[in-house]
Amino acid sequence: MEFSLQQLKQFDGSDASKPIYVAVKGRVFDVSTGKSFYGPGGPYCIFSGKDASRALAKMSKNEEDVCASLDGLTEKEMGVLNDWEKKFEAKYPVIGRVV
Ligand code: HEM
Repeated sequence: MEFSLQQLKQFDGSDASKPIYVAVKGRVFDVSTGKSFYGPGGPYCIFSGKDASRALAKMSKNEEDVCASLDGLTEKEMGVLNDWEKKFEAKYPVIGRVV
């Protein structure tokens, strides 16, 4: 399935009848089973319905970092991001891509 960023936003956990999605490097993961992290009031709900790549790379929960841009990331930050990607792959199904 393909999602625009705007479509992805509908899956931010605010509607309990919908799944929760987080994108990492353009791949959309269904993180619904991690509702305690990504659901309303969860510690990482800021990532929900978004591509969180930059924030994950920088270990940041700042709103301005919650985007797909990898511009200017250090090699170390890219490594952190790749480790998160592996964690997500192991834990959550990929259901599509951001286009
Ligand atoms: C004081 C700071 C922090 C503490 C104490 C903390 C603690 C935790 C704990 C206990 C887990 C669960 C690990 C597990 O059982 O798998 C976790 C997961 C996670 N943390 Fe943090 N964290 C902190 C900061 C951050 C920051 C700044 C980020 C920003 C990227 C972050 C992103 C995540 C993500 C994405 C997960 C994975 C959730 C999942 O399994 O889907 N954490 N954190």
